[in-house]
Amino acid sequence: MASSLVTRYLCLALIIFSGFVSYLVIAIILRIEVYNRSHEPLLYGFVQLRPKNFYLRQPRRILERICDDDACLQDKKINWTMVTFIKSKADYIRRREFLRKTWTSLSYVNGARFETVFLIGKTQDPYVTALLDEEEERYGDILQFDGPDDYDNMPYKVLAGMEWASEHLDKHALYASADDDFLINIHTLVESVKNIINESREATLNSTSYTNYRDLMPIMCMFIKGENEKPVRRPGWKWYVSFREYRQRTFPTYCHGGMYVMPLLKATNLWNESRTAPMLRLDDVWITGILRKRLNMSDHLVYKMPDLTKHFGTVNDVVMKKMQLEWDLMDIKHQKDVRCKCML
Ligand SMILES: *[C@@H]1O[C@H](CO)[C@@H](O)[C@H](O)[C@H]1NC(C)=O
Ligand SMILES: *[C@@H]1O[C@H](CO)[C@@H](O)[C@H](O)[C@H]1NC(C)=O
Ligand SMILES: *[C@@H]1O[C@H](CO)[C@@H](O)[C@H](O)[C@H]1NC(C)=O
Ligand SMILES: *[C@@H]1O[C@H](CO)[C@@H](O)[C@H](O)[C@H]1NC(C)=O
Ligand SMILES: *[C@@H]1O[C@H](CO)[C@@H](O)[C@H](O)[C@H]1NC(C)=O
Repeated sequence: MASSLVTRYLCLALIIFSGFVSYLVIAIILRIEVYNRSHEPLLYGFVQLRPKNFYLRQPRRILERICDDDACLQDKKINWTMVTFIKSKADYIRRREFLRKTWTSLSYVNGARFETVFLIGKTQDPYVTALLDEEEERYGDILQFDGPDDYDNMPYKVLAGMEWASEHLDKHALYASADDDFLINIHTLVESVKNIINESREATLNSTSYTNYRDLMPIMCMFIKGENEKPVRRPGWKWYVSFREYRQRTFPTYCHGGMYVMPLLKATNLWNESRTAPMLRLDDVWITGILRKRLNMSDHLVYKMPDLTKHFGTVNDVVMKKMQLEWDLMDIKHQKDVRCKCML
């Protein structure tokens, strides 16, 4: 009788023990799966083709070439054009007003022509909608896509801009993406892009087939070029990336989102690639790092440009005053530049 009780307890212990062991084995296998870096969905995975965007507002200023009639621009020689898409939010009306009065006010500097587009998402707020109607009527520089206006969906907002650029801009244009809490020294930007254009022109001379110099232009990081940066693995942080999302120890080389510039053709290729690629919430890493890798565009094509940006982070009335003063100083230093403003 007693021995059968012992056997029963032994059996029970064995069952519990083997359950525990198999739990361990499964946990280890799962862990290995998570840490298996050779299978990286972001780099090698596919999703079903995402549909194209629908736009609620489009920048009339560009579509109707409104500034082309500007008297100042009439006799200017335009060597290159850059269109900057600034990530904004429907209700950030004051920031847009501020930017229109500072660095985005220049429509021409020493051979370069500029346009700016503010990228926003959907809003349900009737008050904000009414203000946007007014803003659109007045400036015509808003691109509103039919998607969410929040931070987590930033990549879709940026890509909506890339898609619109691919379908509406002159194929020779330069595409730029920028944040709305930056000052950009446009004068320095013109000089440094001019050097890159010169370099790319020289490089076409050696090319055996016909090549447009724009095809050889790199992705230019106007703010920070991120190299060997480690993902933030602490849950809850703004830039948190889990192991399941991305397994490598470091991100590919990429341009921080503050500002980057590239020939439109590259933007079009990145956008096209994005449509079947799994998304990473960090738009700059995803677009200029991961999607670029997927297209086999070499790391040598990511350039660090001279310092020409100033990041402010928070933007309130006090900071805006400070930004205005800084901009005036930057601008005054280059008073001799040939320049135009196209103020509507
Ligand atoms: C425009 O480009 C031409 C060469 O292609 C150059 O000679 C000229 O100086 C440039 N103009 C400006 C304003 O940069
Ligand atoms: C263009 O680049 C070449 C070398 O790549 C250099 O010799 C030349 O001075 C540059 N020209 C200008 C106008 O910067
Ligand atoms: C073009 O080729 C010549 C001769 O092969 C070489 O000396 C020169 O550095 C090359 N230029 C560029 C911009 O690659
Ligand atoms: C767009 O991407 C698809 C694959 O997702 C590819 O087959 C196609 O050639 C690409 N088109 C262009 C214009 O790059
Ligand atoms: C990139 O290179 C890999 C490996 O050589 C190849 O399998 C893949 O098709 C290439 N992708 C593109 C878009 O060219």
